[in-house]
Amino acid sequence: MIKFKINDQQVQAQPGWTVLETARQHGINIPTLCYHEAVEPSGACRLCVVELREGDWSKVVISCMYPVAEGLNVYTDSQRVKNVRRWILEMLLAECPASKEIQALAAEYGVGSTRFAVHNPEEQCILCGLCSRVCAQVVGANAISTVGRGVHKQIGAPYMIPTDKCVACGCCVTVCPTGAMRSRFDAVRGVPKVVLAHGAR
Ligand code: SF4
Ligand code: SF4
Ligand code: FES
Repeated sequence: MIKFKINDQQVQAQPGWTVLETARQHGINIPTLCYHEAVEPSGACRLCVVELREGDWSKVVISCMYPVAEGLNVYTDSQRVKNVRRWILEMLLAECPASKEIQALAAEYGVGSTRFAVHNPEEQCILCGLCSRVCAQVVGANAISTVGRGVHKQIGAPYMIPTDKCVACGCCVTVCPTGAMRSRFDAVRGVPKVVLAHGAR
C-alpha cells in the first residue's frame, strides 16, 4: 500500500490509484464534472484540482489523473485550490451560461457572473466528452463524438445526422454533468416518425 496525506489525514492507496480515487475511498469530497469511475479520465474540466505541498513549494494538479505516490501532501480545499476552482467556474459560466447545474455549482463557490466572453447564451455543454466516453467505453455504441472545430465544436452524431448506432440507452444523458445532453438526445437518435396506416386521418 502507498501512504500519503490528504488534508493532513493519513491515507492509504493501491498502486495505480489516482489522488481522486483515494480521496473518494476515504470519504473526502473533491468536486468533479468530467470524471466517472466507469470510464477512463480525460482531464477535461479541471474542476478536480488539488494542491500538492512540499515545504514552501506547492503546485496545483488535477486529481482525477494524478497518480498516488508515497509521502504526497495533498490539500483539497486550500485557499489556492478555491481560487483556481473559482477561476475555472468563471470560465465554465462563459462556456455554458444556460446550464443550471453549472450556475448552481458556481454559486456554491461564490461565483455569480463571469468576466470571460460569452459566445452563446443558450449553450449548456462544456465539451467534457463524458457522454461520448460512456457511449464508447461502457455502451460500446460509439454513436457520438465531438463534431466541428473551434467555436463550432459540439457533441453529436457524425455530421450531426441522426444515427442508428444509438441504442437510446440514455447513459449519455444520465452522466452529463451540465444537463446539455438532454436537449441533444433527439438530434442524435432521430425523433421517431409516426407512420399513419393507409387511410388514417
Ligand atoms: S453533452 Fe454533457 S457530457 Fe457531453 S460533452 Fe457536453 S457537457 Fe459533457
Ligand atoms: S443513448 Fe445513444 S448516444 Fe447516448 S450513450 Fe446510449 S447509445 Fe450512446
Ligand atoms: S474531473 Fe478531473 S479534470 Fe474533470
